[in-house]
Amino acid sequence: MQILDGKKAAQAIKDELKISVAQRANDGKKIPHLAAVLVGNNGASETYVAAKVKACEETGFKSTLIRLEADISENRLLETIEDLNTDPDVDGILVQLPLPKHISEKKVINAIDPGKDVDGFHPMSVGKLVEGLQTFIPATPYGIMLLLEQYKVETKGKHAIVIGRSNIVGRPMSILLSGNSNPGNCTVTLCHSHTANLKEICLQGDIIVAAIGIPEFVKADMVKEGAVVIDVGITRVADPTRKSGFKLKGDVDFDNVSPKCSWITPVPGGVGPMTIAALMKNTYLSCDTKN
Ligand code: GUN
Repeated sequence: MQILDGKKAAQAIKDELKISVAQRANDGKKIPHLAAVLVGNNGASETYVAAKVKACEETGFKSTLIRLEADISENRLLETIEDLNTDPDVDGILVQLPLPKHISEKKVINAIDPGKDVDGFHPMSVGKLVEGLQTFIPATPYGIMLLLEQYKVETKGKHAIVIGRSNIVGRPMSILLSGNSNPGNCTVTLCHSHTANLKEICLQGDIIVAAIGIPEFVKADMVKEGAVVIDVGITRVADPTRKSGFKLKGDVDFDNVSPKCSWITPVPGGVGPMTIAALMKNTYLSCDTKN
């Protein structure tokens, strides 16, 4: 079993971006600028957004964090997005999800200028992704593709099982893995909460991407010998022995599954850091194509 070290691969990407940004600054060109909008104070969202802002600082990007109260009106949030759309200095806009129940995520995502949609969630971005056109690819599946590329994991002709059909991870992941690309060219089965015989399907998987948000859902008896396992889960589970009061658990029962795998991502230190590196790449691309 070998570890797909997301922390290391993400650092390499950020190091490269840092050099490119420094070069841009030297040339008197614009520096990439990411604007992150955080509504309310969901603990996990706070952590993710803080990590994104920190990555900007490390890489020499400009970042703006806009914090809004949980009870902000949908209209006020839409106005905030419009301000960012029209601000020529802002290259990428990210509205951290989930949003409070009274706000329509669809409306908010639709309001983002597709040219600044570094999360790749706008219907325009999704449509382009499906068509195999150049676009912003959602950061988590993009990060996974970069990780597979970095470690030269063979994907062509493999049967990939994606568990979870979210717009953020599972569905775009299935599109990318089935694409005529490298990594890609997989035969993909997309599984979800209504999938019958999930265990039997998973056992056929040369590659399994677990993105269901249920800690340790993928057990050893669901994984065939030699499989590549990508764990997208990062659920906070109570742990009174830790200062934070919780620990992070993946969707895969790592201790029992990992001995069967050819490659596996750890949690933490696997997909999480790659998601941030991919977001940075999208933001850089947005700045570079326009300036
Ligand atoms: N919530 C969970 N993952 C993501 C992500 O990649 N982007 C945003 N904006 N919100 C998220």
